[in-house]
Amino acid sequence: MLNSRTISDLAQAFAASPNGFLIVDQGQPSFAVLPYETYKILKKGKTAQKKIKKILVTGGAGYIGSHTVKLLIDQDYEVVVFDNLSTSRREAVGGVKLVVGDLSDRDVLDKLFQEEKFDAVMHFAASIKVEESVANPGKYYRENVVSGLNLLESMMAHGVKSFVFSSSAAVYGEPEKNPINEVASCQPTNPYGETKLCFENILKWYGKGYGLNSISLRYFNAAGAMPDAELGYGRSLEHTHLIPRVLDAALGKTAEIEVFGNDYATPDGTCIRDYIHVLDLAEAHLLALKKLSEPGAHIYNVGTGRGSSVLEIIDQAMEITGRMIPMKISGRRAGDPARLVADSKKIQKELGWQPAYDLQDMIESSWEWQKLSGPGVV
Ligand code: UFG
Repeated sequence: MLNSRTISDLAQAFAASPNGFLIVDQGQPSFAVLPYETYKILKKGKTAQKKIKKILVTGGAGYIGSHTVKLLIDQDYEVVVFDNLSTSRREAVGGVKLVVGDLSDRDVLDKLFQEEKFDAVMHFAASIKVEESVANPGKYYRENVVSGLNLLESMMAHGVKSFVFSSSAAVYGEPEKNPINEVASCQPTNPYGETKLCFENILKWYGKGYGLNSISLRYFNAAGAMPDAELGYGRSLEHTHLIPRVLDAALGKTAEIEVFGNDYATPDGTCIRDYIHVLDLAEAHLLALKKLSEPGAHIYNVGTGRGSSVLEIIDQAMEITGRMIPMKISGRRAGDPARLVADSKKIQKELGWQPAYDLQDMIESSWEWQKLSGPGVV
């Protein structure tokens, strides 16, 4: 008789690579016939699960990092967070060990790798504002490339060779067609995307030269929160992303939401993005750990495949909040592509990932999270 853990592993492997079957005896699965592809997926998963136990999470106090840390802890991984707290919240890591430091400090990193024996690193720490990167590219090359290299060098010196990287849909620039898959050409339209692409390439060569196994996850637009676990984006910081800004306007914290351009080649003239729940992104990281047993640098899009325009987001936010959201149309923002929608078939097929949440969940959970800080509080 198969136990429930085996059945759930099988179900996941069948979803990623079907064509096998289960023999059911008196309503209970008792015997599985697996195609070789499915068997390989299961076998890999098992090996990786045994191997990776202790993980260093850079930027683990930040928005996507903290949700991933929560899921890792729930799955009994041992986690240490490394964060400079420049844009993140100490409380977001809960009781998890936090080392406050900066990735530019090689001595601190070496000491940490010496003291703790990590099996893998998840690298979230980065500067992420598209507009700021256009105005100040030096900061982005320093923080996203030079500091990242410091981390890799320290890892190599201490024999840590498994790496999950927070990449971005910004690597594609203005794509020739949507939905975008991973083989589409990458021509970033801003330094932020350029630094993420540059780092993906570094990972490719570190794979060939030093045997680093890596997974780069190209996030589309992260949104949503986990209010029950007191997790969300930085409440006290000034928001730059669309959904929290729209909700700030709903709360009356700001007078209106500015719509950056309504003259794009899209049905309503405003930019289209693929919004993805932060917990679905976090889940992709957990699945990525299993793939780390395979050599080389692997790249996956993580999005829902559904695009929403700025005006559609505002509309749905009014419906969910039951409030009027004043808006003002202003000029385009530098570096914004018109449309970015993910083709995520690769991660679905190879890692068995599926988004579990939709746009309504993202706006509702963000609304719950932002309401917690009360009207008038910035
Ligand atoms: N927007 C507005 N008004 C605002 C804020 C945003 O109209 O006040 C518009 C933007 O112009 C854009 C869309 O809403 O068209 C989404 O903007 P966000 O700032 O929320 O997100 P971006 O698409 O610029 O970038 C985000 C992340 C990047 C990531 C990218 C991938 O910040 O890290 O998604 O799609 F690379």
